[in-house]
Amino acid sequence: MNKLKTFAAVAVGCGVIGFAGFLAYAQYGEHRTFPAIQNTTVGTPTDAIARGRYVAAMGDCAACHTVPGAASYAGGYTLQTPFGVIKSSNITQDKDTGIGTWTLEQFDKAVRHGIGSHGYLYPAMPYTAYAKMTDQDMADLWAYMQTITPVKQTVVENELPFPYNQRFLLAGWNLLFFQDKPFTARPGVTPLVSRGDYLVNGPGHCAACHTGKNLLGGDVSAALQGGTLQGWHAPDLTPNTHVGLGQWSTDDIITYLKTGTNRQTVASGPMQEAVENSTQHLTDPDLQAIAAYLQQLPGSPPHTAPAIAASDPQMVTGKVVMESQCEACHRADGTGVRNMIPAFQANAQVNARDPASLLHVVLQGAEGPVTAGNPTGAGMPRFDWKLPDDDIAAVLTYLRNSWGNSAPRVSTDDVKNTRTQLSADQWLGH
Ligand code: HEC
Ligand code: HEC
Ligand code: HEC
Repeated sequence: MNKLKTFAAVAVGCGVIGFAGFLAYAQYGEHRTFPAIQNTTVGTPTDAIARGRYVAAMGDCAACHTVPGAASYAGGYTLQTPFGVIKSSNITQDKDTGIGTWTLEQFDKAVRHGIGSHGYLYPAMPYTAYAKMTDQDMADLWAYMQTITPVKQTVVENELPFPYNQRFLLAGWNLLFFQDKPFTARPGVTPLVSRGDYLVNGPGHCAACHTGKNLLGGDVSAALQGGTLQGWHAPDLTPNTHVGLGQWSTDDIITYLKTGTNRQTVASGPMQEAVENSTQHLTDPDLQAIAAYLQQLPGSPPHTAPAIAASDPQMVTGKVVMESQCEACHRADGTGVRNMIPAFQANAQVNARDPASLLHVVLQGAEGPVTAGNPTGAGMPRFDWKLPDDDIAAVLTYLRNSWGNSAPRVSTDDVKNTRTQLSADQWLGH
């Protein structure tokens, strides 16, 4: 008994010492300084601002820091995370509510090292990727940010429930999941692939959406093999021929990132925004670099499950729904219309294990990106009010298992749950 008590006391003691040690470590981490930025003066200030505007497009800072229709970079954009809601900061030059009094060092500490005005930042701000940005890109970006019109708007970023609202815990998260290391070119790859590596894993932060997350929100090791966020599935970007980009040519990738459409598909949801705000503004050499990098990734493990038989009751119903509701646009043979209406055949999103995006699009409709290369984005009508859960489940199962596609069945419950999650309308036909 006494032994047990002693053991318990020692265990509690160790816990307390460990916790105090962690607190001290977190304190130290928050107040540490980072190496100063080098090479800050290249060309005229106007050149630096123009380059910085391009860096802001690469990093898609506007996607999260500008609420659509509201003032640029004034923050307040809501990000749904599995832990609760986080709002983006006001990063205009306002001296009270923005970052108007900041220095380049403070800006760098927030963007590349994840420590902002309230302490550790939540990784909803993708500093884990921005850590790879070069000194030159950071200096140019700061030159540009200093030209942003000040907007007075107070944002309360963190209203997470306890314990997630305790920022010092992020020191632990960083230990587990954040490699605060500058970008280094991988040996043996071409300069083009290396530039692509930099863009994808640095400013472009493609992994924020396209890499799956573990229970604590850290990246899983299957990099760029698909992830699901905010009710959307961001597909596998490796050369897997079934669920990845294996059937896309270099030109297919470039056209998609530049215009939001290609012969196969049309971008919707978070990718529609990424194309509009970010990738359409990239230069052709940079888009080529991204394509070259993605194409040399090792393919994710091949998928072998056979398609569900055409005689399956869900497949039979699904075909009828497809013929009456979808065929006029998507075509009976699933080939769609080039640059306007997605082809279902050989479509990675359609074959993806997780049908989140398909459910999202069919229930609530979607708008294609409006870009300089494709000014009239086509629209997909919403079907939440028009079709019952079992018809939606059937038609998605049908298009996931026809024309050479194969993917797990979509159930009536999947549709029902997604309706609730998205607050979509109910079927009007009851
Ligand atoms: C995916 C969404 C997202 C993107 C993209 C993003 N941010 Fe953020 N950012 C956030 C969120 C959310 C916060 C608040 C996090 C917190 O309070 O912990 C934030 C915080 C910040 C802060 C800290 C402000 C402060 O007062 O501490 C700065 C500076 C910042 N972002 C700059 C940028 C820049 C520059 C870019 C582009 C290179 C960018 N962000 C891109 C979501 C994003
Ligand atoms: C904010 C989240 C987000 C970010 C950041 C993001 N993507 Fe996406 N991406 C998505 C989603 C969601 C889709 C699915 C869109 C759809 O179904 O129409 C997608 C689709 C794609 C597709 C089409 C895949 C297919 O098979 O249809 C490509 C290619 C792509 N993204 C490349 C990129 C690259 C390259 C980057 C980084 C420069 C990037 N994405 C950054 C969310 C994101
Ligand atoms: C009026 C024309 C039209 C009709 C009818 C229509 N669609 Fe679409 N659909 C589109 C367009 C356009 C898009 C691209 C929208 C975007 O990505 O923003 C699309 C996108 C989709 C996608 C996303 C594909 C991808 O690659 O991400 C799915 C899934 C889909 N439709 C399924 C259906 C189903 C199922 C039906 C019938 C119940 C249907 N559509 C009826 C025009 C239509």
